Amino acid sequence: MIRLAIQKSGRLSDDSLKLIRECGISFISTTSKLKTEATNFPLEILYLRDDDIPGYVADGVADIGIVGQNVLVEEGLQQLTVKALGFSKCRLSLAVSKGDAYEDVTTLQGKSIATSYPNLLREFLTSKGVEADIHTISGSVEIAPSIGLADAVCDIVSSGSTLISNGLREVETVFKSEAVLIANQNLNPEKSRLLQQLLFRMEAVQKAQK
Ligand code: PRP
Ligand code: ZN
Ligand code: MG
Repeated sequence: MIRLAIQKSGRLSDDSLKLIRECGISFISTTSKLKTEATNFPLEILYLRDDDIPGYVADGVADIGIVGQNVLVEEGLQQLTVKALGFSKCRLSLAVSKGDAYEDVTTLQGKSIATSYPNLLREFLTSKGVEADIHTISGSVEIAPSIGLADAVCDIVSSGSTLISNGLREVETVFKSEAVLIANQNLNPEKSRLLQQLLFRMEAVQKAQK
């Protein structure tokens, strides 16, 4: 039996479940149950918060997982990557209030920036020689400028509608992301064999879609 962790609810959830089903794996999925077993493959699916997935796979609580590169790289666990999956593409971007003047990234010198991705943001600002005050918050980041919590935000943008609804304007791309398959680095032979079978099926699905 191999244990797969996927996002419980969010941008990755539907496409992650769809990929597993396209691999010919059947399971009953209910929103209230956080664990399910496939009926025709030795696979157990865990529904977790995306932020928790890299750590659980690194520790072996889950054997494999599907997660965004944004979360994986922020947590410094990119070495777990097995394969890019081509869905849930998004970018981590800096945004300011739409009425605020913005020239280039040096405009942010000495300003405060709210984000859930302090490591990716710090690395980007350092590479540009900009020093800013980073406020780490775990959600609803886009509200920060309008309540006086920060001058700018750095958060995930997909369609861009969350930024627009909150009166923000995207000004810089910090990181580009998509969903990836990750795996624990010490899988036993039995689990490695199951992972290879899954990979083989995923590649067939991807080829059929081209
Ligand atoms: C991101 C981000 C916004 C939303 C942007 O959240 O924090 O809330 O997506 O998408 P849009 O540009 O299409 O409006 P994410 O799905 O990563 O969830 P999480 O922050 O709760 O993990
Ligand atoms: Zn998250
Ligand atoms: Mg969010």
